[in-house]
Amino acid sequence: MKMSSISRLGFWVCMVVVVLGCGVVECSVTYDRKALIINGQRRILISGSIHYPRSTPEMWEDLINKAKEGGLDVIDTYVFWNVHEPSPGNYNFEGRYDLVKFVKTIQKAGLYAHLRIGPYVCAEWNFGGLPVWLKFVPGISFRTDNEPFKMAMKRFTKKIVNMMKTENLYESQGGPIILSQIENEYGPQANLLGAPGRQYVTWAANMAVGLDTGVPWVMCKEDDAPDPVINTCNGFYCDAFSPNKPYKPMIWTEAWTGWFTEFGGPVHQRPVEDLAFSVARFLQKGGSFVNYYMYHGGTNFGRSAGGPFITTSYDYDAPVDEYGLIRQPKYGHMKELHKAVKLCERALVSADPTVTSLGSLQEAYVYSSESGDCAAFLSNYDTNTTAGVMFNNMHYSLPPWSISILPDCKNVVFNTAKVGGQTSQMEMRPTDTEIFSWETYNEDLSSSDDSSTFSTLGLLEQINVTRDSSDYLWYTTSVDISPSESFLRGGELPTLIVQSSGHALHVFVNGELSGSAFGTMEKRRFTFTGKVNLRSGSNKISLLSVAVGLPYIGGHFETWNTGILGPVALRGLDQGKWDLSWAKWTYQVGLKGEAMNLVSPSSVSSVDWTKGSLVAQKQQPLAWHKAYFSAPDGDEPLALDMSSMGKGQLWVNGQSLGRYWTAYAAGDCSGCSYTGIFKPQKCQVGCGQPTQRWYHLPRSWLKPTQNLLVLFEEIGGDPTRIILVKRSVTSVCADVAEYHPNIKNWQVESYGKMEEFRKPRVHLHCGPGQSISSIKFASFGTPLGTCGSFQQGTCHAPTSYTVLAKKCIGQQRCSVTISNRNFGRDPCPNISKRLSVEAICAPLD
Ligand code: GAL
Repeated sequence: MKMSSISRLGFWVCMVVVVLGCGVVECSVTYDRKALIINGQRRILISGSIHYPRSTPEMWEDLINKAKEGGLDVIDTYVFWNVHEPSPGNYNFEGRYDLVKFVKTIQKAGLYAHLRIGPYVCAEWNFGGLPVWLKFVPGISFRTDNEPFKMAMKRFTKKIVNMMKTENLYESQGGPIILSQIENEYGPQANLLGAPGRQYVTWAANMAVGLDTGVPWVMCKEDDAPDPVINTCNGFYCDAFSPNKPYKPMIWTEAWTGWFTEFGGPVHQRPVEDLAFSVARFLQKGGSFVNYYMYHGGTNFGRSAGGPFITTSYDYDAPVDEYGLIRQPKYGHMKELHKAVKLCERALVSADPTVTSLGSLQEAYVYSSESGDCAAFLSNYDTNTTAGVMFNNMHYSLPPWSISILPDCKNVVFNTAKVGGQTSQMEMRPTDTEIFSWETYNEDLSSSDDSSTFSTLGLLEQINVTRDSSDYLWYTTSVDISPSESFLRGGELPTLIVQSSGHALHVFVNGELSGSAFGTMEKRRFTFTGKVNLRSGSNKISLLSVAVGLPYIGGHFETWNTGILGPVALRGLDQGKWDLSWAKWTYQVGLKGEAMNLVSPSSVSSVDWTKGSLVAQKQQPLAWHKAYFSAPDGDEPLALDMSSMGKGQLWVNGQSLGRYWTAYAAGDCSGCSYTGIFKPQKCQVGCGQPTQRWYHLPRSWLKPTQNLLVLFEEIGGDPTRIILVKRSVTSVCADVAEYHPNIKNWQVESYGKMEEFRKPRVHLHCGPGQSISSIKFASFGTPLGTCGSFQQGTCHAPTSYTVLAKKCIGQQRCSVTISNRNFGRDPCPNISKRLSVEAICAPLD
């Protein structure tokens, strides 16, 4: 079937322009069934999510430039309402929340932006990005046809749109923003809610379109997205997706590059072969916009992690890692894919594919335009075997679960399963920076009757009380034990049973920790059952309930309960069971140390700290610890190794690095094949180890000396064993084939970087503050093997080592063009050659 009728496409362009309600001149971003149209040109766009609050402004430019280097055209971010409006009408757009600066940084790099305003964003972010105060607006019901919710949502959306307009940031104003999102994955919600859900979708679409941004809006995972809003796909694969109207383009708003982690679970990784395969599958079917979620995941600083139990690291196994370093081979392989795709852009946007079968599980998608462009995708869906196929009278070999891309319908420039390019090995290298002057301050448990507390009969829901101003809520009651109780005379101790709705609980009896219990992400409710050491007379039972990130997904999550809702009971007394649920309970929001702001350099001295070592040995629960350290030299990213600690929170110079928890990962970490449908449980690492051991400490938060480290430990641990590490690249490899003479100039031109195709180069790139200290392997010819185990093949240029050593040793980065001339002469004429290199990175002296 061939139906590339340009005139029909033209008709839809006009149609959509009319539907969007703006004239051709002022409206610079439109769309048709093939693609987004920017200033009159259909584009194949590669995009990546980088969430601005998950890194620091000092990191933004570098992250965005790395994305650009990796072949991206667009940077995508959610807008996080709850950080911008911490209380109604009070806005914050400073520091990590400086959205305008972030968008301008994208603009400066010459990239486009996709602004996903939401304002519900999901994103494993606390409360899905909605401010907690919103829950207390009278009559509110989230994400449905509810006036108070719609009013607040409109006010915030409008605020953001106006802010962008004032700064001229929409493409229609000459700015970088080409696309915007309203709501997030509303489809499943709408299905649950029925009519009010559908009314809300229509309202949200009209509200957004009415804000007149001059660029299209999308709704992801919302099959009923009303015109002109484009419905888009999220998932590990989106080739089976088609938009709800024939005149909308096929857009993939979240191509998941990996997955998030939860405390107590393993780390998920997505093989790059499968990621590349899924993207190629989407594009061969006619997709024209792919956004990687995440391209850089970053860090959930402070208490921004959603929950319960989302880890502080939001690394996501993304092409750029949590610390802002390039993750190889993921980054390089995807970059090669992007180059190959750009070679096909002209054919892809101007034709529809002809699909032919090449075997039982093999297909060819051919885009051949009237102006003579031709691009082909040859696919093998077989999960086990390589397929030999005939295409246009030529023979091609397709590895299992892979797609080859032929930008001229003849030559394969890329196969999704053949990972070449760059690889690198990373390590967390301990620094010799001493963290010194450890001192401890024990959280004060005594005062349950001062002004910061209140009492009532019965158990209260936690968030209603704390309004999320702290993770912590104390529930305290007292029980009188008669001297005649049998257990006091050698009988079995009574048992305390506490039913909690989430998320973690520490039980103290008369000031001593009796035990702890935790829920899980899947099962928030849990029960603490433990023997308690009561004495004759009055006993104080203090329950410290800990929220570990508020829910961010699910039907009406604003109504979900946290904290101790009971029953709370004692068993094993002479009277039998004693239900304490309706006793008098005293509440204290947060910790004393929080109220005194002990984490801040200016108020840390407001209490008497005790010199550390002795106290630390005792594994004291509920303890504040502080120490000082100088900034390590160099500029490699830094982290704190917290594996000697239990659970708590961590600050440096008053900035919160987030929650830490040495919870050990349970799960199946055996094996991982890139072939076959991916799901997060398929490829896991780190079982039996702490889910998260290292906590990112941004360099920009440090001064040269006297940096204040404060942590609050709930259970116990040895802070003197905390160490500062540098994330360093140990070695880098590159493996690149020489230039293919059959690629035509016009194809390369459409990519705009002719040089990269005509003269392929190997790029070796150590981390910041490092340089190449030696070349472990270099061979221009037909080398074999992979990074770490390269070997010379039958063809080898004897000059390989000296050429590389001369260019690279002592440099932080170097590149070498792959050409016979560069290596003296052609080591084996008429044989297609490659250059493989492994270089060692070492810190700069
Ligand atoms: C999607 C959601 C994202 C994120 C992702 C998982 O469904 O839209 O915000 O939560 O799942 O990382």
